Amino acid sequence: MPFQIIRNDITKVCCDAIVNAANPTLLGGGGVDGAIHSAAGPELLAECRTLGGCKTGEAKITRGYRLPARYVIHTVGPVWQGGEAGEEALLRRCYRSSLALAMEHGCASVAFPLISAGVYGYPKDQAIAVACEEIRGFLDGLEDEPTVYLVVFDRRSFRLSETLTREIQSFIDDAYTAPFEAAEARRDRWNNSSVALPQIAAPMPDAAPAPKTAGKKKSGILARPAKAVQEAKGALWDESFANAELESLLSQMDESFTQMLLRKIDESGMTDAGCYKKANVDRKLFSKIRSDLHYKPSKATAIAFAIALELPLRETNELLRKAGYALSPSSKFDLIIEYFIRRGNYDVFAINEALFAFDQPLLGG
Ligand code: APR
Repeated sequence: MPFQIIRNDITKVCCDAIVNAANPTLLGGGGVDGAIHSAAGPELLAECRTLGGCKTGEAKITRGYRLPARYVIHTVGPVWQGGEAGEEALLRRCYRSSLALAMEHGCASVAFPLISAGVYGYPKDQAIAVACEEIRGFLDGLEDEPTVYLVVFDRRSFRLSETLTREIQSFIDDAYTAPFEAAEARRDRWNNSSVALPQIAAPMPDAAPAPKTAGKKKSGILARPAKAVQEAKGALWDESFANAELESLLSQMDESFTQMLLRKIDESGMTDAGCYKKANVDRKLFSKIRSDLHYKPSKATAIAFAIALELPLRETNELLRKAGYALSPSSKFDLIIEYFIRRGNYDVFAINEALFAFDQPLLGG
């Protein structure tokens, strides 16, 4: 995925260039600036001394020295003064000038911290929004995208509202207990059912031969009778499903993942590129999917497409099923995805805030 939001210490990120949230002197400081200088070693400062400082919104590049990254791109973010002093435009320039410098130096991967969101006081949610917009806008325009990481260092960066946290937590708790309760309810229903459950005299054709019990009636339920099965089926049979065109349903039922994906892209009116970029899937991967009728993507990729296509839950499950997956009630990640789909909220940023708050891997930026 070309754009990934990760939680890490940027000095540990192994990529071609990491971006430093520096100050105009470029002579080091606290926060991420201090961390990068101490991890890179004194040679970094020595090189910085030769650069003659850096203006806010601009960027300069040095080697990475003892860092895993080959380069350090130093950019100076705006100090937050309430939002009326052109801070946003300057912050956007930081991302653009850093990315331009990375491209000039052939970087295939770049990692950003949240520029200005620390000592410089830029409100974190706005800083994240600017970062995501600028990085996605940059990637959208490229054929051969580099991988860009937004490295979020502390939990305070993604602030989930109390109510939303509570709501998601209870959705998760309900889902964890639901299968158990459903099984309990089913057992109760069959145990107390008014429909007389005939005891099957002869064992089911594929069942193991019944134990030899001379003349003793078998207790317990071996199978549901036809009537109860019809009742259950009636209840489970979804009206809209029953009313849909039968032949198109049958043709869709044996569609592969790729076929369903391409059909849903056409139905959505999006272009292929518009869809895979919205899903934050790179062009190469999409070409592989499109050219292989039976391609099996990762679960995260299948979910990313379902979110990009804004599929309702049933179709999301259908698309996942075609790739061999299902949203599982025992996976917190899946439950959070389901929570947002049920509410028709396909905002990747909002979903990521929730995933981050629950220590889950994030959807691409
Ligand atoms: N890895 C990733 N992110 C980090 C790390 C780290 N090791 N350390 C801090 N951060 C995060 C902070 O949590 C914050 O979200 O980087 C973001 C930017 O915070 P600052 O480093 O304070 O940078 P900024 O707000 O741009 O202020 C720049 O601070 O360190 C001085 O010399 C620097 O004067 C300059 C000012």
